[in-house]
Amino acid sequence: MLALDPRVPVMARVNRAFMHRTTNWLAGQGIRQFLDVGTGIPTEPNLHQVAQRIAPDARVVYCDNDPIVLAHAVALLRGTDEGATEYLQADVRDPDTILDGARKVLDFSRPIALSLIALLHFVPDEDGAHELVARLLAELPSGSYLVITHATADFTPEESQAATEKLKAAGVTLALRSREEFARFFTGLDLIEPGIEVPHRWHPELGDPVPGQDDGVIPGYGAVGRKP
Ligand SMILES: C[S@@+](CC[C@H](N)C(=O)[O-])C[C@H]1O[C@@H](n2cnc3c(N)ncnc32)[C@H](O)[C@@H]1O
Repeated sequence: MLALDPRVPVMARVNRAFMHRTTNWLAGQGIRQFLDVGTGIPTEPNLHQVAQRIAPDARVVYCDNDPIVLAHAVALLRGTDEGATEYLQADVRDPDTILDGARKVLDFSRPIALSLIALLHFVPDEDGAHELVARLLAELPSGSYLVITHATADFTPEESQAATEKLKAAGVTLALRSREEFARFFTGLDLIEPGIEVPHRWHPELGDPVPGQDDGVIPGYGAVGRKP
């Protein structure tokens, strides 16, 4: 993401750290099922390792559309005997394939945490980003959670536009979204305190700080919402 932006290594670590903290928090709330779309190349600890440290019986389904992630997916499948992990090679723009695959591992009558971390800025409005999230959420029962981080141009409009244009020239369309557009993903959900935040300010006490995260603005939003 934003491969031409010098903050990318910090942003990538901030997103991973957000995943660690939200997973810690969710497992602490009793969540035992996770559906992570846009997983990325495995980096320890992966989501299932964070969750299964707290709840060895946690069940995790990963999904990405990148064949490179598929090539490394075996690292995502080494979990506890009590729990379960699965990897789906699928595109978030094909929610039915994701839901069909996830149903083989997860019990959709019990709460599930759906995480879309640093994913949705790769899905433009023309591909129906908000509708896709709503479609996935519609299948999840009450008590489920939505976890998102997303890049924005709100804080650094000129740098963000320059990065977007360079990426476009390289064939990557980046859909940076405003706070309001980000908030729309959580329509109908109860936002967990502190609501929409810059990712590293979402419950920093639940994890370790990322070196460099305070050296300038991290141009993104993060939030967790609960389905009533
Ligand atoms: C910036 S990485 C984030 C990885 C991980 N969530 C993290 O925060 O470390 C974005 C991931 O989303 C995946 N991705 C991008 N577009 C996707 C799509 N349409 N469907 C599924 N995965 C997608 C990419 O292959 C990549 O692995």
